[in-house]
Amino acid sequence: MSIRSRLPAANADATSTGAPAGQFPSVRMRRNRKAPWARELVAEHRLSARDLIWPMFVIAGKDKRVPVASMPGVERLSVDLIVEAAKEAVALGIPAVALFPFTDPAKRSDDAREAFNADNLVCRATRAIKAAGLDIGIILDVALDPYTSHGHDGLLVGDEIVNDETNAALVKQALVQAEAGADVLAPSDMMDGRIAAIRSALEAGGFQNTQIMSYAAKYASAFYGPFRDAVGSAGFLKGDKRTYQMDPGNTDEALREVALDLSEGADMVMVKPGLPYLDVVRRVSETFKVPTFAYQVSGEYAMLAAAFEKGWLDEEKTMIESLLAFRRAGASGVLTYFAPKAARLLKAQH
Ligand code: PBG
Repeated sequence: MSIRSRLPAANADATSTGAPAGQFPSVRMRRNRKAPWARELVAEHRLSARDLIWPMFVIAGKDKRVPVASMPGVERLSVDLIVEAAKEAVALGIPAVALFPFTDPAKRSDDAREAFNADNLVCRATRAIKAAGLDIGIILDVALDPYTSHGHDGLLVGDEIVNDETNAALVKQALVQAEAGADVLAPSDMMDGRIAAIRSALEAGGFQNTQIMSYAAKYASAFYGPFRDAVGSAGFLKGDKRTYQMDPGNTDEALREVALDLSEGADMVMVKPGLPYLDVVRRVSETFKVPTFAYQVSGEYAMLAAAFEKGWLDEEKTMIESLLAFRRAGASGVLTYFAPKAARLLKAQH
């Protein structure tokens, strides 16, 4: 008699407990959660300092730190202190920093000419970090908003942000930044065709290895408010950016934007804002399988930082959870103002 035929017929695919296979109590999901080591073993996504990009604000002067009121814990730093912060980033294992300028209002103009000044703040900061011999990636934004008198990312003619003329200006800005030593250029302006224009200028200018991380799916979001304070464009901005940044209700359009930027020569793409747009991060990363970054923007930072200050949320746990969520959604990495704090915590935990 075979073993099989000795089993009680009615219970052929049941467990000794009498429950059908594949169900409780033979299946208890909590077994894999019973201890820290068990949870480690089955963890699907992890966060490390290597996943973080630290955005910093540069201000003129020496040994100068100016807090950003709407971003508690974030300071604008003079170039000498930016170098110190970049050293800290290296020590923490953060692979790259992204630099943004606070431009003296007197240097803003309709034609954004300070953007092409090889001695502007971000170019000087880039050279200073390179001169210090630090092994860290430097990412510079390509967009005109820190330099225009109206706070828009492009050139304004009448009441229109003009596309092709803006592209010509962005190319000049990109070349000055590449020349200063920027490793990655991050066009955040959302003009059509700018990736192709910048890429061909880089190729022609001898900057074949300069990477482009395109802000491909960038939404016209209210979550950028504190950033505009930080770079000093809040008071200048007239109107909104809806003729160039995306409608928050759209997601198929994000895929078209990403496809275009990749075809024009972007090496990496970004979705922005972050947490409220994780569905877009997921779609982009699944569809294209290219390095996909997300930006936990200033307003997301401000919301969390305000709740931490009030004691309404646990700072350490909430910060790490918010960043891990990006990894789960498929992001290769996250631009976050929490980068140094999160990296310190992650280091302490391992
Ligand atoms: C500039 C730029 C913005 C941000 C990054 N680059 C602001 C904007 O588009 O108005 C936002 C970053 C943040 O909110 O943290 N084009």
